[in-house]
Amino acid sequence: TTKYHPFAPINLPDRTWPSSTITHPPIWLSTDLRDGNQALIEPMHVQRKLRLFKLLVDIGFTEIEVAFPSASQTDFDFVRHLIEHHLIPDHVTIQVLTPARDRLIRRTFEALQGAKRAIVHLYNATSPVFRRTVFGKDRLGTIEMAASSAQLMNELAAEQPQTDWYFQYSPETFTATELDFAKDICDAVLDVWQPTPQHKAIINLPATVEVATPNVFADQVEWMHRNIARRDSVILSVHPHNDRGCGIAAAELAQMAGADRVEGCLFGNGERTGNVDLVTLALNLYTQGIHPGLDFSDINLVASTVEDCTQLPIHPRHPYVGELVFTAFSGSHQDAIKKGLAVQKLDSTWEVPYLPLDPADVGRTFESVIRVNSQSGKGGIAFLLERDYGLVLPRRLQIEFGQVVQQAMDACGQEMSATDLWKLFEIEYLQA
Ligand code: KIV
Ligand code: ZN
Repeated sequence: TTKYHPFAPINLPDRTWPSSTITHPPIWLSTDLRDGNQALIEPMHVQRKLRLFKLLVDIGFTEIEVAFPSASQTDFDFVRHLIEHHLIPDHVTIQVLTPARDRLIRRTFEALQGAKRAIVHLYNATSPVFRRTVFGKDRLGTIEMAASSAQLMNELAAEQPQTDWYFQYSPETFTATELDFAKDICDAVLDVWQPTPQHKAIINLPATVEVATPNVFADQVEWMHRNIARRDSVILSVHPHNDRGCGIAAAELAQMAGADRVEGCLFGNGERTGNVDLVTLALNLYTQGIHPGLDFSDINLVASTVEDCTQLPIHPRHPYVGELVFTAFSGSHQDAIKKGLAVQKLDSTWEVPYLPLDPADVGRTFESVIRVNSQSGKGGIAFLLERDYGLVLPRRLQIEFGQVVQQAMDACGQEMSATDLWKLFEIEYLQA
């Protein structure tokens, strides 16, 4: 039988950091079913989670954080359901989250019984304020908490040798933690796990709350990348949240600073302002000519499934997916797009002004590209009449009819469809 390594799809090339560009996709981890789910007004039940899990697999995620099994019976049952009904494809590795508490770690391993392969994700908060006010522990006490949990994980894994175990540790609140202490606690956990280059452990650095500009996060990641012990046996992962609206920039700069892996959610779902949006990250790579290894060729299907499962709408201006992002209302933009599209037919490189990628690459069509309202000009009107009615307006008529449309639109204040324009054209020129 084939033994899959969860990190096999990406062969990390030799590279030096920091870099000023991203040359290949990170290892992706979707936490839609965990961080995304825990932030929903109405958390998903098994059927919805299954639907989203299937979508994530279809998109191409090979690492999916599916639950926080010690936190709720629903999450526990979901993991059991996936395992007992053999719903996890061989090339996909599930991940589950556990706090650094013995009882909860045991419950987590119980949920995973019979799994072929799993990543167990251990976390405890490490910043001074958490140490002081939440746990009442000093540095040593906090390290001891993580290291003893890591040790328990070794023992429980040894009791279930039929599962191929991988371990991940997150110093939660990493961005507010002193770097030397973040290194010490990660090193202590790694000492217990003893990862090797053949069987790596994951160290995940969360911007639990985004508190600084993204370059500061990148500097912290770079410092860890340079100083953490056993770097060649570690997958360095990041987990940006979006409190200052810079989650994407933070993830991109972190990759340039040395991160191998990114955790996030589709369309930036997740706690508060969300986790970093994996769709935007992936399509940013795509527009730079780097295939992200994730399939967003039918973005509308992805969007509608996510909206159904999370019961949260996607903003009409959301990058690459929003209803309005492949649309131009203003006359000058419409004119430039129209000219670009005409050239585009003759040339395979994408050189259409104002559109960062070919809408067809994400399953959108040109129909929605040009729309007409009171901001529009003759170019858009001509484009719609030609496209839908085969009516080629000579330039003088374009100008004249443009004024007619403008007046009509100033009066009604609403968008006009190609059909509305055609009716107006008939009234003006054909019914006399
Ligand atoms: O944001 C966070 O810190 C988390 C951890 C549990 C990784 O979600
Ligand atoms: Zn998080």
